[in-house]
Amino acid sequence: AKHVAILISGGGSNMMALLDSMVGDHPARPCLVLSNTAAAGGLARAADRGVPTAVVDHRPFAGDRPAFEAELMKPLLAARPDIVCFAGFMRILTAGFVSHWQGRALNIHPSLLPLYKGLNTHARALAAGDTEHGCTVHEVTAELDDGPILGQARVPVLPDDTPETLAARVLKQEHRLYPAVLRRFASGDRRPVFLP
Ligand code: GAR
Repeated sequence: AKHVAILISGGGSNMMALLDSMVGDHPARPCLVLSNTAAAGGLARAADRGVPTAVVDHRPFAGDRPAFEAELMKPLLAARPDIVCFAGFMRILTAGFVSHWQGRALNIHPSLLPLYKGLNTHARALAAGDTEHGCTVHEVTAELDDGPILGQARVPVLPDDTPETLAARVLKQEHRLYPAVLRRFASGDRRPVFLP
C-alpha cells in the first residue's frame, strides 16, 4: 500500500475522514499524523486509532520558516510517506519545502478554487453574494492554494447563511471529497473528482 502522512493544525475532522477511508481494499494506509501544535485535537483522535503522531511546534521558529520546516521534515522523512495530505494545516510553506513533496502532496481548501485563496473563505463568499460555494482538493505547489485541481464539491448558499452555517455545510462535503480524491490519487489516477 501507499503510505500517507497527514498534516493538521486543529480538530482534524478531515484527517479522521481520511483515516476512516483507508481500510480494506484502499490503496493507501496512514503512516503519520503530524501537527504544528500540541493543542490540535486531531492528535488524540489519531492516536486512538493507533496512528503514529508527532508535533513540531512552529512558535520557537517565529520568523524563520526554513528552520521550522527543517524540523518538520525530520518526522516526515522518517515516516517515509508516498503521499502527504494537508488537512487543515494552517502554516504557509516555502517553495523549498513544497518542492521536495511536489507531485505527492495534496491540500484541501474550503472554497471553489481559484476563488477565495487564503483565509475567511466562507465570509468572503457570503459578502460576494455567491449562490454557490464549496471545497477543493488540489496538488500543493509553491503558490498558496494553487496547483492542479484534483477534486471539487459544491454546496448551495442559503439566504440565512452565516459564515458558520455555510462552513458546516462545506465541511460535510470536505469529508466526502477528500477521501474520494485520495483513493483515486493513491491508485495513480490524477483525473479530478467532481461531487456530488
Ligand atoms: C477545513 O475546513 C479545511 O478545509 C480548512 O480548515 C478546516 C480544518 O478542519 N483548511 C484551510 O482553511 C486551509 N487554509 P479540520 O481540522 O476539522 O479538518
